[in-house]
Amino acid sequence: MALGCCLCLTGLLLVQLDLAQGLQLPEQLIVLRGHSLVLKPVLGSFPSQHFHLVTWKREKAGQQPVRILIYQSEGNITYLSQPFSNRAGFDTEYFTLTLRNITVADSGEYLLTLTLPDGSEHSATTRVAVYEPLSDPQISADVSSLHCSVLGGSAPRFSWLLDGAPISNHSYTISSEGRNLSLSPRHPHPAALCGEFTCTAHNEMETRTVSFSAQGPHCTVQDRHHLALLWILLIPVVILAVGVCYWCFRRGSRQAPL
Ligand SMILES: *[C@@H]1O[C@H](CO)[C@@H](O)[C@H](O)[C@H]1NC(C)=O
Ligand SMILES: *[C@@H]1O[C@H](CO)[C@@H](O)[C@H](O)[C@H]1NC(C)=O
Ligand SMILES: *[C@@H]1O[C@H](CO)[C@@H](O)[C@H](O)[C@H]1NC(C)=O
Ligand SMILES: *[C@@H]1O[C@H](CO)[C@@H](O)[C@H](O)[C@H]1NC(C)=O
Repeated sequence: MALGCCLCLTGLLLVQLDLAQGLQLPEQLIVLRGHSLVLKPVLGSFPSQHFHLVTWKREKAGQQPVRILIYQSEGNITYLSQPFSNRAGFDTEYFTLTLRNITVADSGEYLLTLTLPDGSEHSATTRVAVYEPLSDPQISADVSSLHCSVLGGSAPRFSWLLDGAPISNHSYTISSEGRNLSLSPRHPHPAALCGEFTCTAHNEMETRTVSFSAQGPHCTVQDRHHLALLWILLIPVVILAVGVCYWCFRRGSRQAPL
């Protein structure tokens, strides 16, 4: 009798544990703007047919919760709310919510509530953050420093490599937010940046890099700039050559009738 009761109690405890661990969602999700949000719950020990109603809602600080959809198992009917109707999807077996073409306005807490036929509810939430895609980083330079920047993108962080290796903090100083690299006063001479510098911009979702090549006797100046300088020097030469040709031609045509 006592043993039976004990077993029964253990059974009850196990069921309660199962209920407590039954429904789970990831704690946090980060999605790139324009991509799809896919929220797949772990239903635990519950077979999905046991639920009467399934509700997905979105909550934002300082705003009324917005209902995305209700699913009623009786009749297998999904009611999508108007603002989501053309970009939300719902899987009636696993209760997965899919939201396409995410915008920054879609960030917030997503709440899933499952209602049993007896009216009891089980819910889980997940925090969704939306990131802007990173644009390609760019490097601008002066004689003793480089500045790395991105035009757009959420929470970018920056790091540097010199000729593919981590940068020695003895010779270079990197600003606290990582964007600027400059020659340290302890840097051995000559006081110019030399080598292939690579800036990496990254956030939780993406990594993008750009390189700056400072080669040649005076360094710091990028090869591309050498090329630009060459053109600037060439232009007067070309103009002069054209002028000389034109003058020769004029002289030639004036002398021709003679
Ligand atoms: C419920 O409806 C969906 C389509 O909306 C269908 O794919 C699914 O098989 C149906 N489930 C049942 C149990 O009828
Ligand atoms: C995605 O959303 C943006 C902003 O709401 C809109 O301009 C764009 O046309 C949408 N793209 C698709 C494929 O629906
Ligand atoms: C340079 O970096 C090393 C290792 O990260 C550190 O131990 C050292 O204190 C740094 N030196 C300077 C001058 O910041
Ligand atoms: C980094 O460099 C930019 C451009 O040279 C400058 O405007 C900015 O103040 C610098 N920031 C730091 C922290 O040194």
